[in-house]
Amino acid sequence: MTVQYPSTSPVQPHATSTPPSGAPRPRLTFLGCGYLGSTYAACFAELGYEVLGMDVDAERVAKLAAGQNPIHEPGLDELLKHNLASGRLRFTTSYAEAAEFGDVHFICVGTPQRPDGMAADLSYIESSVTGLAAHLTRPALIVGKSTVPVGTANWVEELACKHAPDGVDVQVAWSPEFLREGFACEDVLRPDRIVFGVKSDWARQLLYAAHKALFELAATEDREVPVVVTDFATAELVKVAANAFLATKISFINAMAEVCEAAGADVTLLAKSIGYDSRIGNKFLRAGIGFGGGCLPKDIRAFQARAQEIGAGEALRFLHEVDLVNQRRRNRVLQMAAELLNRPIGPAGPDFSGTKIAVLGAAFKPNTDDVRDSPGLAVAKALAKTSAEIVIYDPEAAEKARQELPDVAYATSLTEAVDGADLTCVVTAWDEFRRADPHAVGELAKARRIIDGMNCLDHAAWIAAGWDYRGMGRPIL
Ligand code: UDX
Repeated sequence: MTVQYPSTSPVQPHATSTPPSGAPRPRLTFLGCGYLGSTYAACFAELGYEVLGMDVDAERVAKLAAGQNPIHEPGLDELLKHNLASGRLRFTTSYAEAAEFGDVHFICVGTPQRPDGMAADLSYIESSVTGLAAHLTRPALIVGKSTVPVGTANWVEELACKHAPDGVDVQVAWSPEFLREGFACEDVLRPDRIVFGVKSDWARQLLYAAHKALFELAATEDREVPVVVTDFATAELVKVAANAFLATKISFINAMAEVCEAAGADVTLLAKSIGYDSRIGNKFLRAGIGFGGGCLPKDIRAFQARAQEIGAGEALRFLHEVDLVNQRRRNRVLQMAAELLNRPIGPAGPDFSGTKIAVLGAAFKPNTDDVRDSPGLAVAKALAKTSAEIVIYDPEAAEKARQELPDVAYATSLTEAVDGADLTCVVTAWDEFRRADPHAVGELAKARRIIDGMNCLDHAAWIAAGWDYRGMGRPIL
């Protein structure tokens, strides 16, 4: 493994063979135009590359081609429109067109959890690689970006070689993405590191060429983008290891929240105090209702499943515990609601009939409309089973939440949601909720009871305004 800092001179120090035609500005395709692919396509077009986004979903492609971004991601709309107008960005449903257009093809399709277990479903990877490879007519590099079980890159290489026409040189590389929703464009344009899992100099050089503009941008901003060049297996593992670490850090602080609740201590002050130790760091130490989203939950499960398959299951047994702690925090909100509403939890679960509960939030985190495995929406679903009247308000995610949880009411404003509520639960840390005036909200609510599932409110201000406030892992004041 070598670590290189190419922002000053990205290609030359390692140029040992000639990149193929198209370099140093190879033409790029992004296969799969969901959260990952649409963001990458727009950002790389912004960097000056000729880009073609490809997706089998004709409706999605039509929307993207018309400049309508189907996801809420800050800054993405502008990048999409600007680069469609410049002609550098186009979208298609055709594998043949993608194969004809691109020198480097990035695989950005989803790898969801399989319905029959914890492992990842690789069927979208399979169909995109075989669909593309069959149409290739000249040398091409297929680069995996999707999060996959270790061993996938070798399998993709076999698939690509099997399906490519005879005589066409197709190679594979793996370069995992680390983008966070809500900061996706920034994370693509200004990554804190890049990993190239490669088997040949040709692939490595072509990858440098495909990122040259990104290194140049870094140089103009006096930054460096470290590049770690690895084998396939390490590149695949980097992504799941990073997500397993982040998930573990969150579950660690949520486990501390459980202990704090039992001991009458305050986990927010505990997190602050341990976070000052630079070996621990203060990021990803916010206790709450646990992690969710399209990545962390499924990735830690797929990682365990794969480790089991390769004989390293014992090594990841702790991730099972990480998952359990995470699920328990969601249930804790229900217990707190029962305490605040003074209703017992019977054998069939709590009965909150006759009460109105305002749920503030549905997205799995702020600045996104993504509700995949959203802890907040899971809490709303559990509350909906108590016979309470549930009203959800989320500034961006209502439409997607409604598809998952249709039988509750959706408000179009915070004030509409809390109007007449017996209990208010904050389950996504949107700025709008952090900034809400506890006095004004208190005037609307029927009772001043609030559960701060994200520990994101100024609890002293809410208590001073007469609210019965419950935070996660915090003493009752
Ligand atoms: C994550 C990784 O951060 C990213 O690098 C990877 O590429 C994809 O998965 P994302 O799913 O966008 O990104 O969200 P992230 O910001 O990591 O948050 C994940 C979940 O953890 C959210 O539900 C969030 O609310 C929760 N979280 C985060 C906490 O509960 N506490 C924290 O301290 C931080």
